[in-house]
Amino acid sequence: MSVSFTAEQVAEHNTRDDLYIIYNDKVYNCSEYLDEHPGGEEVILDCAGTDATEPFDDIGHSEDAREMLDSMLVGELKGGSKKSNNGSKSGNSSSTNGSNSSVLIAAGAAIAIAIVAFAVTRK
Ligand code: HEM
Repeated sequence: MSVSFTAEQVAEHNTRDDLYIIYNDKVYNCSEYLDEHPGGEEVILDCAGTDATEPFDDIGHSEDAREMLDSMLVGELKGGSKKSNNGSKSGNSSSTNGSNSSVLIAAGAAIAIAIVAFAVTRK
């Protein structure tokens, strides 16, 4: 993905035949998809040339819908206006991982202590 757009450049693609949206700092060309959209073309036209991350997520689109976006990818947003959002997302997933592994570490430590206690009390 080598092409990057500024938000201003994306905003120029705001017509039915040339319609870009931004989703999670990536730029998608949705012109071809307008007619097929189960939610109707109006909602996408409303987001034409803008960051549609929030409206897209608010609707609760399926995993399939997200995968369809892949085929419309044209580039990425220069600088990324929603960097903090992405950061918190990856932060969330890594903190989930982190808490999972700390549970494992705690369980391991508890078992080790039990073994030591058992060995000590046997003497
Ligand atoms: C190009 C980007 C988009 C794709 C690929 C897409 C795809 C889809 C798909 C596949 C569905 C069917 C339900 C599902 O699988 O989740 C759907 C429903 C819907 N979409 Fe999108 N969508 C896009 C953009 C948007 C945007 C920007 C909005 C604005 C709010 C929107 C609003 C809706 C609504 C309201 C429905 C519900 C329709 C219903 O159940 O009656 N979509 N979309």
